[in-house]
Amino acid sequence: MERKDSVVLVFIAVLVFEGYFCGRGYAGTVTYDHKALVINGQRRVLLSGSIHYPRSTEDVWPELIRKSKEGGLDVIETYVFWNYHEPVKGQYYFEGRFDLVKFVKTVQEAGLFVHLRIGPYACAEWNYGGFPLWLHFIPGIQFRTTNTPFKNEMKRFLAKIVRIMKEGKLFASQGGPIILAQVENEYGNVEWAYGVGGELYVQWAAEAAIGLNTSVPWVMCQQEDAPDPIINTCNGFYCDQFTPNSPSKPKMWTESYSGWFLAFGNAIPFRPVEDLAFSVARFFEMGGTLQNYYMYFGGTNFGRTAGGPLIATSYDYDAPIDEYGFIRQPKWGHLRDLHMAIKQCETYLVNSDPTYIPLGPNLEAHVYYKKPDGCAAFLANIDQNVDANVSFNGNFYSLPAWSVSILPDCKNVIFNTAKVVSQRSLGDFSHRQTSSVKETILATSKWGWYKEQVGIWSNNSFTSSGLLEQINTTRDVSDYLWYTASIDVTENEKEVYLNVASLGHAAMVFVNKRFVGFGYGNHEDASFTVTQKIMLNQGKNTLDMLSMIIGIQNYGPWFDIAGAGIFSVALVDLMNAKEDLSFKAWSYQVGMEGEYLGLDQTSLANSSLWTMGNYPPVNQTLIWYKTTFIAPEGNGPLSLNLASMGKGQAWINGEGIGRYWPAYLAPTTGCSEPCDYRGSYDASKCLKNCGQPAQILYHIPRSWVHPGENLLVLHEELGGDPSKITVSTRTGQEICALISESDPLPVNSWKPNSEFKHTSPEVRLDCERGWKITSINFASFGTPKGQCGEFSHGSCSAENVLPVFQKACIGHESCAMAVSTLNFGDPCVGVLKSLAVEALCSA
Ligand code: GAL
Repeated sequence: MERKDSVVLVFIAVLVFEGYFCGRGYAGTVTYDHKALVINGQRRVLLSGSIHYPRSTEDVWPELIRKSKEGGLDVIETYVFWNYHEPVKGQYYFEGRFDLVKFVKTVQEAGLFVHLRIGPYACAEWNYGGFPLWLHFIPGIQFRTTNTPFKNEMKRFLAKIVRIMKEGKLFASQGGPIILAQVENEYGNVEWAYGVGGELYVQWAAEAAIGLNTSVPWVMCQQEDAPDPIINTCNGFYCDQFTPNSPSKPKMWTESYSGWFLAFGNAIPFRPVEDLAFSVARFFEMGGTLQNYYMYFGGTNFGRTAGGPLIATSYDYDAPIDEYGFIRQPKWGHLRDLHMAIKQCETYLVNSDPTYIPLGPNLEAHVYYKKPDGCAAFLANIDQNVDANVSFNGNFYSLPAWSVSILPDCKNVIFNTAKVVSQRSLGDFSHRQTSSVKETILATSKWGWYKEQVGIWSNNSFTSSGLLEQINTTRDVSDYLWYTASIDVTENEKEVYLNVASLGHAAMVFVNKRFVGFGYGNHEDASFTVTQKIMLNQGKNTLDMLSMIIGIQNYGPWFDIAGAGIFSVALVDLMNAKEDLSFKAWSYQVGMEGEYLGLDQTSLANSSLWTMGNYPPVNQTLIWYKTTFIAPEGNGPLSLNLASMGKGQAWINGEGIGRYWPAYLAPTTGCSEPCDYRGSYDASKCLKNCGQPAQILYHIPRSWVHPGENLLVLHEELGGDPSKITVSTRTGQEICALISESDPLPVNSWKPNSEFKHTSPEVRLDCERGWKITSINFASFGTPKGQCGEFSHGSCSAENVLPVFQKACIGHESCAMAVSTLNFGDPCVGVLKSLAVEALCSA
């Protein structure tokens, strides 16, 4: 290549990197060919990440997007959540954290692209998969198949969203950031269940999308039969083996799972970054050009937005940015390094298909050539156990098991997926406390409480013969439905077994207004039975059952008609004679009285409905609590520790922070921490927190509290001790790194057509924006022992490492130090040395 050309190329590369092409009045064209998306005539390698706008508050969007951009992303992907945009047919809502236009513009302002997954089916562990419940009640409707009422509504909503985006000039051809749109979602996974209707529906959905003239390509994920020109894309833990359904389409990956979602009653899934990086590197190695992390930031299922059954309130997802918006290390940093390495290969990746060169058993090279200036290569060891040494292009390379090395010039390794040189963090605010928190105990505050009555509480109850399906009955205005009946006993009092069977998701059973049992399912199977020995009095007895939904199902064939609620009730006496109560007259009451009164609202904070006192009653079923608290100082997010509570919902200043259920413990077995990243990952491979509640900390966005007194309201179902609730905010972070002299050189110091600017690896420490390094707790150069958080000096250790670090780092937001004897002298000549450091960042 001529020098002049390379200058021009570098210039273009800088413009692309700076996001020049994605907005600010620049009319862009987006097309595709068999290699890649083509933006303004140029094939692009694109790194993308999912951020769902309503899973955070709008004030933090710019910060989340900035962190995404710094992490090396080009594209932000989001679903559109129909049920919250059109809560009542024909009445639209696009305010606050549902302000979709504002979100798209925020991404644009940061200079990134948008992939808009309009659906309108989302899935996404979101209530009812994003469908509004009113849709279900349209006569004759069948969802996601060739059914006219459904198609009319779907088409209307697709058109509505496209129109809003066009009005905002948000499509690329209008100078906007949207370069890609999605119709439907993973329909191919369930299409078999819809027969011919399903096939016709796919054709129809494709035509409906194309007919909207967005001027950007459409995708259908997990849809092998996606008709041209729609691009079928891959979702999965690995997508390197995927090929699109036509040689004219590029290989794209719309859901690359950074972790997995959490359900109440389950252990917490996590995915080691070495494996995630491996899967992503393999994808680009094998010809992929667009990859999207699901999720890059997961966030929170506020209020009743969580899907079901039993999806937890935290949607942290073990993502590179955690539930609270903090950077998760080393995940974020290692992926940023990976992205930089991939981008160094971009011009090669888009130029040709890879050439496969076998290097040995389970050892592969894939090379991308570009004339006249050589090649870029990926070297992979896909063996789960055995590290290997390979020879490639005249040089030797060591490849740890289950890893990929990236060589942007077919010679220098600038990144290996298994060698993490990014900083790490100690403690994790999302699921567990760290020491850097400021905590406020509520115990001294004044409390109010309101006890719900058991059973029917109003005259808008109704009676029906037989047991009703719950969702059709409540229409999801509430999680709760009371099923009540009376049982007459003519003879003397008697002991019987009460058998209750439910489709899900949980139910409390009361006999003669006394709580006798609680049953619940789990995410995998929400159905359950309650069998309880009870005593019936002579004469009239009451049976009251409070059935609860914990997020309406969001996935599966015909998921939209999956039922919930109690379907069978029987009494079995001690002689085994059975009396079936299922078909008798039952009275129904939708919702709790407290919901009807609006006890969660600030307007009722001073109402005389509340009984006031210093000591709230503990271990009470069906009770509302309220108190006020002063938020811990700072600008950062808050978390509410509900470990002392049972199950219910919580509100801060009238905003629903979600369902809580600390009383439900995960199974005691099945966890593996640490988890070997080597070998194929799936959602049950790496779990932590066995035997513990899935979630005890609940996210309160900073923008939901104010100086002075804030209102906390809880609706507790099972019983707990509210006096033990605490609110905390994070005041700092403990960070650490352990880097060896033999570790890779920093990828950002690599310049094409040259060598590394650096000659040794480095330790780099970065605080969250706004914090500075305030102390260095440990530093050692030599042979330090242990891991982050528990380092100690080894037999070889240089003197004065601590003061060197203190001088370079304290008072700075970030600092870097070469892992080299030039900085610290040589404490043990001829021995491979490393540098270990632990620091504290705070305000
Ligand atoms: C996929 C789906 C996503 C999300 C994911 C699991 O099947 O497309 O919306 O539900 O699974 O988190």
